[in-house]
Amino acid sequence: MQVARGTTLAVAGLLTAAAVTAAVVARRRDVDGGEPPATTTAPSTAPRAARTEEPAQPAAVEPRPAEKPASPEAPSANPASDPWSEYTVRPGDTLSAIAHRFDTSVDALVELNSLAAADRLDVGQRLRVPRAADAVPVTATDEQPPAPTRPLEPLVSGSPPEVPAGPVINRVAGAGGRVALTFDDGPAAATDAILGALTQHDVRATFFVVGRQAARDGARLARMHDAGHVIANHSWDHSDLTGLDTEQVRRQLADTSLVIQQATGRAPDIFRPPYGARNERIDDVARQLGMRDITWDVDTRDWTRPGTEAVVRAAVDGARDGSIILLHDGGGDRNQTAAAIGPIVAGLRERGFQIVTVPELVAAGR
Ligand code: NI
Repeated sequence: MQVARGTTLAVAGLLTAAAVTAAVVARRRDVDGGEPPATTTAPSTAPRAARTEEPAQPAAVEPRPAEKPASPEAPSANPASDPWSEYTVRPGDTLSAIAHRFDTSVDALVELNSLAAADRLDVGQRLRVPRAADAVPVTATDEQPPAPTRPLEPLVSGSPPEVPAGPVINRVAGAGGRVALTFDDGPAAATDAILGALTQHDVRATFFVVGRQAARDGARLARMHDAGHVIANHSWDHSDLTGLDTEQVRRQLADTSLVIQQATGRAPDIFRPPYGARNERIDDVARQLGMRDITWDVDTRDWTRPGTEAVVRAAVDGARDGSIILLHDGGGDRNQTAAAIGPIVAGLRERGFQIVTVPELVAAGR
């Protein structure tokens, strides 16, 4: 089965996220800083407007020679001196998903594999995968998320707060000049730098965490919560939830909520679907677990690393009353995002906005 990158989001919607077989033996320094704006990831032209977080890759224009490895399951064991390991592409994979898995960026994968912008991703294809400084350990077998240390009953059969049915919230009208900064895909290496900048400017933000990463970083989650930030649910492993059945979606959300609850003493009441890919069934599960579905109306596209200035401009110029601004603290090198916090806060305040958490924003709009 051949999967052109232009269609992988759709394919991911039909197939469960692929498992990883890899031995990550060393890490490769992720070159950034003076890097020019990303040119390898074209903006999505897909009609699904909600999926702006990680756009689809350009459609394939060139066929690939049919010299794919016979055994897609075989992991590669590189000498410890190699700055990368290999990952075998499986059905449903996207570059974005693989980048998330290895805590790197699409750009880094493109660069490391010398992929052309119009290249395609084939099932069975071997990809070199770098490992960012903050990469969480990746299991060498099919990904079975570690079982939560407590049963799920407190979350699923307790009395979660009443969550009103209604459309997904991407902006809160009538918020009295308030806006919210949100950070997705952590906790990761840049999280502390971002927290430091937020503290310096006396701002509380909302962090949509990936459960699998949060499970290994409970102490940091607790510190974030204690500092007044809101910890929210961004699924267990950043799968496209539209491709999972209801029970799988429930586990993705419930396990993550449990990890957050264990770390902070409080189960999250807001949730953001990976890639913004949502449907009514997912919203229903979230609601059953006491969470509202929150997306965004201002996309800074910071994950493409367009330069700190561009991230600042997107956030400050794009904000309106009640805006929910999308940024990332995970998923790759987020130095530009961390550097953008101070100027974003200053710019928003200059425009008269008050920066609050998402729950505060939602409450203000009522
Ligand atoms: Ni995300």
